[in-house]
Amino acid sequence: MTTIAPDTPLSTLVRDGSKAEHEAAEGSSFMSELLAGRIDAAGYAHYLAVLRPVYVALEAVGRELADDPIAGGLVDPDLERLAALDADLAFWTKGAGLAVISPAADAYVARIEATRADPKLFVAHHYTRYLGDLSGGQAIGRILARTYALEQPQGVQFYDFVAIPKPKPYKDDYRARLDALPLDEAERAAVLAEVKDVFALNGALFAELTEALVRT
Ligand code: HEM
Repeated sequence: MTTIAPDTPLSTLVRDGSKAEHEAAEGSSFMSELLAGRIDAAGYAHYLAVLRPVYVALEAVGRELADDPIAGGLVDPDLERLAALDADLAFWTKGAGLAVISPAADAYVARIEATRADPKLFVAHHYTRYLGDLSGGQAIGRILARTYALEQPQGVQFYDFVAIPKPKPYKDDYRARLDALPLDEAERAAVLAEVKDVFALNGALFAELTEALVRT
């Protein structure tokens, strides 16, 4: 396990410690295609459909852990994305919805659900998705809106945190909450290891989506 200086704040540890994984996610074929406007409505709907069970699990386990002394420090209904994701899915499928079979999503969901037994690991799942959605996600939403000439927030509600009009101060406060979690060195190292794995789980989702694009 990585040795970590005892005074490294958790927010710094997870950001700096997952730089390579973040770069890999940014550079993934699916994200590159998405940002270049080369994913059509069906492809984007597919993306939302595989992300859906991930957010169902994140938000269900989050609610269960709302009073947990560790995970509860981050859980916030203002972050929940499922209703927005469903609205976008309805938009992109013209109301038809979309059911998908995704081994990568199944594996990701199983990993989120396993954190019920070890709530500090839920922190890694919560951080990687929601802080990502509040960071690069904001740019992704704007690019999608421009590429597809959407009337925002139609189709990109997922990136629109209605209850969080200013992501920057929210993220600063979130990092302060991360830093205040009562975790010792070994526990913080375990959170970082889980963050890296969460990036890999997202990478597997992207790889599966890219495969689907190639096949269609
Ligand atoms: C093309 C895709 C992506 C782009 C362009 C992108 C871009 C960015 C940028 C510019 C930031 C820094 C924003 C800031 O400092 O406020 C950021 C932060 C972040 N991104 Fe991404 N990102 C992408 C994909 C992803 C993915 C797929 C994930 C995870 C599933 C992710 C997770 C994160 C996280 C957790 C942070 C917060 C880092 C921290 O400050 O602790 N990103 N992203």
